[in-house]
Amino acid sequence: MPQRTKRKKNRPEILSVETIKVTGVPRTRAPRNKTITLSEEEREVFSGTLLHISSPTTTKAITDTIVNQDLFETLGFLPTNFVDLLILDPPYNLNKTFRSAAFKKKDIAEYGRWFESWFTKLLPVLKKTAAVYVCCDWQTSTAVHLVLEKYLKVRNRITWEREKGRGAKKNFKNTSEDIWFATVTDDYIFNVDDVKLKRRVIAPYTDDNGRPKDWQKTSEGRFRSTHPSNLWNDITVPFWSMPENTDHPTQKPEKLLAKLILASTNPNDLVFDPFAGVGSTLTTAKKLNRRFCGIEIDEEYCLLAAKRLKSADTDKTIQGYKNGTFWERNTLNIQKRKTQVL
Ligand SMILES: C[S@@+](CC[C@H](N)C(=O)[O-])C[C@H]1O[C@@H](n2cnc3c(N)ncnc32)[C@H](O)[C@@H]1O
Repeated sequence: MPQRTKRKKNRPEILSVETIKVTGVPRTRAPRNKTITLSEEEREVFSGTLLHISSPTTTKAITDTIVNQDLFETLGFLPTNFVDLLILDPPYNLNKTFRSAAFKKKDIAEYGRWFESWFTKLLPVLKKTAAVYVCCDWQTSTAVHLVLEKYLKVRNRITWEREKGRGAKKNFKNTSEDIWFATVTDDYIFNVDDVKLKRRVIAPYTDDNGRPKDWQKTSEGRFRSTHPSNLWNDITVPFWSMPENTDHPTQKPEKLLAKLILASTNPNDLVFDPFAGVGSTLTTAKKLNRRFCGIEIDEEYCLLAAKRLKSADTDKTIQGYKNGTFWERNTLNIQKRKTQVL
């Protein structure tokens, strides 16, 4: 059975989240900076909620929990057939040091072999109706695709234009990431109506009687709910003025995860994220009334995830998703106002 982790005494002094993100140099936050941080007291409280798995466990024991551990230590101990949706956001193929885990860039084929070595061990956790999403950078996307094709039915490659990206002088700035969507069988959930995108109408076609064809006239303008495509350009990475932001260097936005979760699960289904980071998947799943389980090697990230989960008891807000609708970018002011259909 999973054990509650004991907080390590005499562990090396961890830099507070105020100071981390590579440099370790203390930073002063701007007054409007909403980045989530932890007090020493919160660390004590939330560390008592984290689990450690050292023997075969049950679905019940790990439902709605965070396991603070190396995923590879847990693989033989996880229950089988318990996951409705698996979201994988593993370290990308970059030389990157998360706080506890360092990743060394490999060639593409080697990344594929590394991915396959643990991905196949996760397959038994999936239900026959399960969906799987895998986030990756554009270079390793090809390797991930080939592995997924071997074991699952690949449905889509989603390309997310995440906007931020380092300017390049000798090629085009890379501002996109891929998310592969696959299912175990042909029997799977896809709630298309729950993930439509609300967009401003540029060409307002009317029928023969002059009535809007497939759009609505509202007090805030003309809008249409469109079928979601596999090109996502309505979502930014979390940044400092957003209440979901932490200092995790590769945190995924709740709006993006909400699309995956709403499309591929129903309420009370279980979402599993074995590279949970600061709990973006888990928090979003909780806000959408799904069950969840996450594994994350780094204690500080787990504690931030636990804090976000606690906040989700009372705050179900997902920026960019309001009243069951995904809004296109730069519509926050409209979302805040009461829209009347005219
Ligand atoms: C790309 S990040 C995921 C970020 C996450 N989606 C979020 O929004 O916070 C990958 C995470 O995997 C964790 N990690 C790396 N190796 C791991 C391992 N062997 N077991 C568990 N977690 C690991 C890292 O600490 C990092 O937080």
